[in-house]
Formats: sequence, structure tokens, C-alpha cells
Amino acid sequence: MTDIIDGDAVAQDVRDGLGDAIETLDDAGVRPSLATVLMSDDPASETYVSMKQRDCEEVGIDAVDVDIDPDAPAEELYDTIDELNADDSVHGILVQMPVPDHVDDRDVLERIDPEKDVDGFHPTNVGRLVAGDARYKPCTPHGIQKLLESAGVDTEGKDAVVVGRSNIVGKPMANLLLQKADGGNATVTVCHSRTADTAEKTRDADIVIAAAGVPELIDGDMIGEGATVIDVGVNRVDADNEKGYELVGDVDFESAKETAGAITPVPGGVGPMTRAMLLYNTVKAAGLQSG
Ligand code: GUN
Repeated sequence: MTDIIDGDAVAQDVRDGLGDAIETLDDAGVRPSLATVLMSDDPASETYVSMKQRDCEEVGIDAVDVDIDPDAPAEELYDTIDELNADDSVHGILVQMPVPDHVDDRDVLERIDPEKDVDGFHPTNVGRLVAGDARYKPCTPHGIQKLLESAGVDTEGKDAVVVGRSNIVGKPMANLLLQKADGGNATVTVCHSRTADTAEKTRDADIVIAAAGVPELIDGDMIGEGATVIDVGVNRVDADNEKGYELVGDVDFESAKETAGAITPVPGGVGPMTRAMLLYNTVKAAGLQSG
């Protein structure tokens, strides 16, 4: 029987696990606070940000909501970041990506105080992660480590294939799997759009992490018997329903689950974990800044 990994349940465990730390901070007069900054009118980004704010409120984290007109000059975003950096009551800052074309995303990420960079995207935090001394692990790869752990998948000595090389998921995921640490010690291959034969790599893998942003790129023929398959994809494809679209992963779930030993669904797999780990990083940030 294929194990369908329940991301909602594991995310709930992560949130429950934050209770003690939030209480300890509360005893010290500190309430963790996350500022989300949205400079976009993309409906998906708007939804993500409002879900993050709701998550915060549910566990006892203050959510500071900043909306910036997507047509405003980049300076307005920079000034906002400067103000949030200087505000001691704000522990975490998240600028929802992507930002408009006239804003340089590298400038944005570098402007956020690394101590408040709960995404883990600041170059200082990326460097620390690669060096094996992560301050904030990026939320999606960290959430995937927790999913693997919950499914009883020990990564040590395993062949892991990461499909996709984004800064948000693919690269940090590969680095975490490589670390001399729990959830690491794997032999890691990263496939991408220029890989000659991705199927040849994924078929031999014990663990496949699909993070390419291509609907149903990975099917059952590309998965070895009993492998663990983690689907990071959240692709909106046109559909004949009232929303006009449906969410489809990077994995063809129906065929992949025939060969996989364990697999995450979309939705209800990686997505809830990304959100839970953001809360985890925000509580960690509050502890680091008040300790
Ligand atoms: N856009 C898509 N994923 C993310 C994320 O994890 N963090 C931020 N800041 N923006 C995103």
C-alpha cells in the first residue's frame, strides 16, 4: 500500500509544537510578530499572503499587513523594509515574491535585516545554510524535511533527486539533503530544464522531490518501485469549473502512486508545511531577538 503523506496533519503537529515556545515568550512579555509585505495584485499572491496572516493569528503571532501599490516606485518598498527593520516589535519580515518587474528582487532580499529574514533568502542566510549553519531554513525545504521524517524516511545514504533549481526550493532543498545532519547525509542529484535525461535519474532515486513548476512533469514511469515522491508543484491550469482553474502538482499523482512507496498529494501535502515552517521561523526569530 502506498503511504499518502498527510501534510495537513504534520503541519498541525508543527503548529501544536510551537505552543510552549509562544507561551515562554509571552511570559517574558514578547508576542512574536510577522510583517507580510505584498506589492502585487496577482490573485495567487494575495491568497498566499492572507493565508499566512490567518495562520499567524491562529497560533498567537501578530500579523502586520502591508500592501503596496504594484505601480508605486521601488523606493516605497525599500522605505517600508527600512521601517520594519527598525521596528523592534516586528520579528519577521516577508516580502511576497514575485515583486513587479521594475523592482529588483535581489535588492529587496538584501535589504531585509538577516535576523528578520524568516524566508531565509538573504545572501547571509543562504551562505549560512550552505555552510551547514542555517539560521532560518527556507520554509518549503524545511517542511519537506519534516514530511520525510514523519513518513519514517531516513535520508542518510539515500539517493535523492531534486527536480528544479530555484532559489526558493530546489537549491536550498539540495543543500539540506546534503548536510551532515538529520534530514541530510543523502547523495543528491539536481535535475533541471537542461538535464539530458531526467527520467533516467528519477527512476534510480529513493527520494524524488519535484519542484520544477511544470504540471504533471513526473509520471509513474519516472518513479522507481517503492520510492518516496514529494510534489512541490502548485500549478494553476485552466479547468471547466466555477473558478476556471484547478491546482495541479508537478507529479501525475494517479500514475506515480502506483509505483511510489509514499507520496504527497496536491493540495494537502507540501503547501501546509511551507506555511507551518514560516510560523516556526517567526517564533524562532522572536526568541533570537528577545534573548
Ligand atoms: N513566493 C512564492 N513562494 C514564496 C515564499 O516562500 N516566500 C516569499 N516571500 N514569496 C514567495
